[in-house]
Amino acid sequence: MPTPPVSDETLHAALSTVIDPEIRKPITELGMVEGASVDDSGRASVTILLTVAGCPMKDTLRRDTTAALEKVEGVTSVEVTLGVMSDEQRAGLRQQLRGGAAEREIPFAKPGSLTRVYAVASGKGGVGKSSVTTNLAAALAAQGMKVGVVDADVYGFSIPRMLGVEQRPTQVDDMILPPVAHDVKVISIGMFVPGNQPVVWRGPMLHRALQQFFGDVFWGDLDVLLLDLPPGTGDIAISVAQLIPNSEIIVVTTPQTAAAEVAERAGSIALQTHQRVVGVIENMSWLELPDGTRQEIFGSGGGQTVAESLTRSIGAEVPLLGQIPLDPTLREGGDQGRPVVLEQPDSAAAVALRGIARQLASRSRGLAGRSLGITPASR
Ligand SMILES: Nc1ncnc2c1ncn2[C@@H]1O[C@H](COP(=O)(O)OP(=O)(O)OP(=O)(O)O)[C@@H](O)[C@H]1O
Ligand SMILES: [Mg+2]
Repeated sequence: MPTPPVSDETLHAALSTVIDPEIRKPITELGMVEGASVDDSGRASVTILLTVAGCPMKDTLRRDTTAALEKVEGVTSVEVTLGVMSDEQRAGLRQQLRGGAAEREIPFAKPGSLTRVYAVASGKGGVGKSSVTTNLAAALAAQGMKVGVVDADVYGFSIPRMLGVEQRPTQVDDMILPPVAHDVKVISIGMFVPGNQPVVWRGPMLHRALQQFFGDVFWGDLDVLLLDLPPGTGDIAISVAQLIPNSEIIVVTTPQTAAAEVAERAGSIALQTHQRVVGVIENMSWLELPDGTRQEIFGSGGGQTVAESLTRSIGAEVPLLGQIPLDPTLREGGDQGRPVVLEQPDSAAAVALRGIARQLASRSRGLAGRSLGITPASR
């Protein structure tokens, strides 16, 4: 019995369910399908054009395409051929992704941008900035938001490991496609240096690197971009403020008095840069003992103190967004590249982190505090 013929429309519809894993759009919209046909015996053959020859995602694309076509009634077998885009095709794709905008523009710095950019800062190192950043990112993405993370901690980059990202970004000429992990787009300077080498760059080079992270990386339409800053009040924090003036600051501290004092300094940089401080997160607040009592290993009150003194010095309400207890599951999740908010969502740390993520999500893409650009009408 002859198999029913498969129409071009059916074939196209099936292929449009295949999403490019990096650009996250249907391959049919990206000019990646060069030819597709089904012969009389139901053998489908399709040629997919990769953006670059060594595309790390080629196996995923082949698998997804095969799976999509196998579902089509009348298809008995699938053959996927992988090719590579020509320079012209790539230029066309770049143009399309940038929406025709001029190159090197930082989309988040544009006045109409609806992406909330949060720089996660701390005075001291080791207070849990990167852990907080990765977990908030994963939690926000799990709530359905489009999320990106920039590991701007050029000296101690740790975000790729914490999110379990092993791939390197794909470079399409001068555009960089960020790897995606747990639905979060991730870029880190660690992806651009060989092995585990330290970065020995100075201010201007770091500024340029950040500029590239914001301007040359294809982020798409993000709801939230989280930046993991290095500890302290250095060059990077100032570069961020210059490059994305409407970025906002989240301060992370431990309950300890000494940590709180330096955290306050990191927060008050916002006064000079005219950035808004969204709030304070206290991490390592206590350890819950088996009998349910809380042991305050690092003392108490640091988060509240920082929130109150920043409220006073900045002259605007800076809330304490939450307190995250010490929790071994959080550390394990970070070590294994599986954020605790996803792996053990009911653990004490995950509950606290998800609560903070909810607060951030509720203010995302809001217009509160933003100029609407309206002027009074004259009569
Ligand atoms: N609430 C917590 N419970 C248990 N371990 C935690 C907690 N928060 C952070 N840690 C662990 O403490 C260590 C330091 O955390 P993290 O790397 O997130 O801090 P950081 O502020 O980014 O440090 P750095 O200044 O080095 O970048 C990590 O090993 C992390 O797993
Ligand atoms: Mg860190």
